[in-house]
Amino acid sequence: MHRLEGKVAIVTGASKGIGAAIAKQFAAAGAAVVVNYATSQTDADAVVSAIEERGGRAVAVKGDVSKAEDARAIVDGAVRTYGRLDILVNNAGKYEFAGLSDITEDHFHKLMNINVLGLLLVTQAAAAHMGEGGSIINIGSSVTTMKPPASTVYAATKSAVEAITGVLSKELGARRIRVNGVNPGPTATEGSASLQGGDASAALIAQTPLGRIGQPQDIARIALFLASEDSGWMTGDTLIASGGL
Ligand SMILES: NC(=O)c1ccc[n+]([C@@H]2O[C@H](COP(=O)([O-])OP(=O)(O)OC[C@H]3O[C@@H](n4cnc5c(N)ncnc54)[C@H](OP(=O)(O)O)[C@@H]3O)[C@@H](O)[C@H]2O)c1
Repeated sequence: MHRLEGKVAIVTGASKGIGAAIAKQFAAAGAAVVVNYATSQTDADAVVSAIEERGGRAVAVKGDVSKAEDARAIVDGAVRTYGRLDILVNNAGKYEFAGLSDITEDHFHKLMNINVLGLLLVTQAAAAHMGEGGSIINIGSSVTTMKPPASTVYAATKSAVEAITGVLSKELGARRIRVNGVNPGPTATEGSASLQGGDASAALIAQTPLGRIGQPQDIARIALFLASEDSGWMTGDTLIASGGL
């Protein structure tokens, strides 16, 4: 049952939503977990407390993934606290939607900086500490296949994430570091709640073969599979987890 016993994991953007669920799932599977957050210290501390109450090990580490210095500090925090690093989940991400005429430089750079540059900076810092063997999991989005209107910049960032997953699997494979991705469909999180109105959710549920919105735990279980040796023969792949939408 303890598929990550003895492992150390960083989950970026783990104060809320999908990242918080992944941090809890990994800790329940035996990993010591770095719960990264950007601003929400109270939420990150609550995730750490929930893990510790169940006998797990976790520490909250503040850092903006889109800043190189912070990215290194997040990784240093893991190595300093737990002495090693085996698993990185690049989950921190922003989603904002804008039709073509509403796209601005600010919108473009904000999404690219966090979703793409941030992922690269943390991965660069983490790979330097991972030694031989490890698992990197990139959280993308099913927008890359659904291509909904007004998702141009967000979908572009997540298409970049898929490309990066493939390229880095080749660069890091010789060190037995696997790089895979998960593309969630619409998932009920603090972030998505601020976007989706009731009508939009009802329409999405109606189009989803499994008949509901995804929950963070749905994605966390897949992340656990990709982090563990159960997926040991997979690298460079991205799984879609959207209830069939
Ligand atoms: N929810 C969905 O429907 C859905 C669907 C497909 C893909 N995704 C992807 O799944 C991931 C998580 O989404 P979510 O819905 O769980 O998000 P969320 O509820 O909005 O939470 C976002 C998390 O990312 C952190 N974060 C934001 N900017 C950061 C930065 N610069 N550095 C470090 N951490 C940062 C936030 O920390 P603070 O609270 O401290 O700011 C928070 O912990 C994202 O990559 C998103 O694109 C989500």
